[in-house]
Amino acid sequence: MIADVRAVGKNDPAARNVIETLLCHTPLHAIFLHRIAHVLYHLGIPVIPRLISVFARFLTGVEIHPGARIGPGFFIDHGTGTVIGETTIIGKNCVLFHNVTLGGTGKHKAKRHPTLEDNVYMGTGAVVLGPVTVGRNSRVGAESFVFMKDVPPDCTVVGTPGRIVRQDGRKVSLDLPPCKVAIPDAVPSPQAIKRPVDAATTEEGFA
Ligand SMILES: CC(C)(COP(=O)(O)OP(=O)(O)OC[C@H]1O[C@@H](n2cnc3c(N)ncnc32)[C@H](O)[C@@H]1OP(=O)(O)O)[C@@H](O)C(=O)NCCC(=O)NCCS
Repeated sequence: MIADVRAVGKNDPAARNVIETLLCHTPLHAIFLHRIAHVLYHLGIPVIPRLISVFARFLTGVEIHPGARIGPGFFIDHGTGTVIGETTIIGKNCVLFHNVTLGGTGKHKAKRHPTLEDNVYMGTGAVVLGPVTVGRNSRVGAESFVFMKDVPPDCTVVGTPGRIVRQDGRKVSLDLPPCKVAIPDAVPSPQAIKRPVDAATTEEGFA
């Protein structure tokens, strides 16, 4: 938690002093509450970790599932709309802005959310979906979208779909490599499962 407070001082030019940071930096409150919820989650305590997470979201607009593993020195700026899924892993000193989504595709079962290595930076509105890895020191630009692709280390990725525009400090234009974890065989959606024709429906739709 001390590292999280220091991270605000390091990353937020608007942070004036520790007291103001502790009282007013609402994403920090979400991170503190998450650190408590995460311990309870790992102790196997039912319901309470999720309740803490819901309370933190109500207070701050930041939704972090208690199962997410988050390293020290984590900084979220503004925070509202940020969503961090259950099997997300976040390394040391990562920075996220508001409206970032670290989510699943809906097709994976166990590890289904992203892994961010150390010093990853994600601009506002960045969306990363699937059990992908964002390599250390990489940046995902504001409003960029990464779906089932890994981001190599020391890269900047921007756009939809995300492309590498900078690697090891040099400007480049490269596609992202596919995620090492494949999408499991497609599960038929409930709508796609054939069901006996209902007496009340016709070929064209509802009678
Ligand atoms: C991506 C970012 C981190 C910059 O990384 P960088 O490695 O310094 O990249 P550069 O600024 O050199 O930009 C490289 C190229 O990507 C483009 N680019 C940068 N950010 C972009 C974005 N979010 N979306 C689309 N293109 C972007 C630049 O225009 C540049 O294009 P060019 O080569 O045609 O000139 C930064 O632009 C960004 O998006 N920051 C997020 C800031 C934020 O969320 N602020 C919220 C404050 S409330």
